Amino acid sequence: MVHARTTPFAMPLPKALEHVDRFFGLDTILTDEGCDILRPYYQQSEPGYKRVHSEKGCMHMALNPDGVYSADGYFTQIRTVADHIRQVQAKRVLELGSGMGFNTIALAPDHPDVQFTGLDLMAHHVNSAGKDARHLPNARFQLGSYADIPTDLHGADVVFAVETLCYATDLDAVARQIAAAMAPGGRFIMYDGFRRADFHQAPPDVQTAARLFEVTTAVTGGFHSVEACEAALARAGLVVLRRDDLSDQSIAGLRYLHHRSARFFRSWKYRLLKHVLPVYLLRNAVAGLVGPYMIEGAGPNSGDTQAAITYSVLMAEKPH
Ligand SMILES: C[S@@+](CC[C@H](N)C(=O)[O-])C[C@H]1O[C@@H](n2cnc3c(N)ncnc32)[C@H](O)[C@@H]1O
Repeated sequence: MVHARTTPFAMPLPKALEHVDRFFGLDTILTDEGCDILRPYYQQSEPGYKRVHSEKGCMHMALNPDGVYSADGYFTQIRTVADHIRQVQAKRVLELGSGMGFNTIALAPDHPDVQFTGLDLMAHHVNSAGKDARHLPNARFQLGSYADIPTDLHGADVVFAVETLCYATDLDAVARQIAAAMAPGGRFIMYDGFRRADFHQAPPDVQTAARLFEVTTAVTGGFHSVEACEAALARAGLVVLRRDDLSDQSIAGLRYLHHRSARFFRSWKYRLLKHVLPVYLLRNAVAGLVGPYMIEGAGPNSGDTQAAITYSVLMAEKPH
């Protein structure tokens, strides 16, 4: 684990759980486990993603390989996708769960001969992405689900998904949809959080931190394991090329959000917001506060105890 250049935790994990319990009730939050809260979560969270989370339109975690938080980390996933676009000389790229369009809008200008399409379930995300992509002739955004990818989007040379397949309820069905959408020789890249295979051996409060993060980001079924995703892709006929655990690279960004969230929990002024703002929006502060513990363990230093979640990338290919 990266130790040296990250800031310390704002507080020990038991204290963080105490704050969350006092403000929201741990059990109250966890009663949403297994419930479908995706739409109200993203509807209510729009101002949070637009004004608090990070770069304009970005809805994913920063990956900073040097362990120091910087906004450049939000482009790490994009650079990898760009490598694959070049490797297969892609003409058509499909982004699943494209959110407010950050990734596709960053990629399109550098690849003017490539046609990009972003597919997302939420109309307000699609509209926001479409507005921000007005100036890009080779990028468009479409409403729809990766559980039922429209056939006119099939034939993509690169399909990618950043922090969205965690919401898939039927991995096999989605993997088949992805395989069907890919051209032979095409690449698939997914970045996401994953439950570690030994999730249940992590200390109970680290597991609780992970479950709180999952529920407060609407991943109410829990993150998938990387093994389950690989197996589903293989059953759909794709060849898994590699898997990389990038948890270390996610620490700086997670700690950045953790410190901002800690300020929220400590300040009585922010606590007044409870009476004004919608609950799923506010609960993003829980995800921010507990995020590092699920990836690093219960501290005081990274790796002192077992963690529960990894942040990983999976890459696969559709055989010719
Ligand atoms: C955490 S955001 C990530 C957005 C974007 N990939 C990014 O990196 O900024 C997850 C996105 O997945 C979308 N989503 C969830 N389930 C989906 C589905 N079944 N089909 C398409 N999009 C979905 C949500 O609406 C949301 O925009």
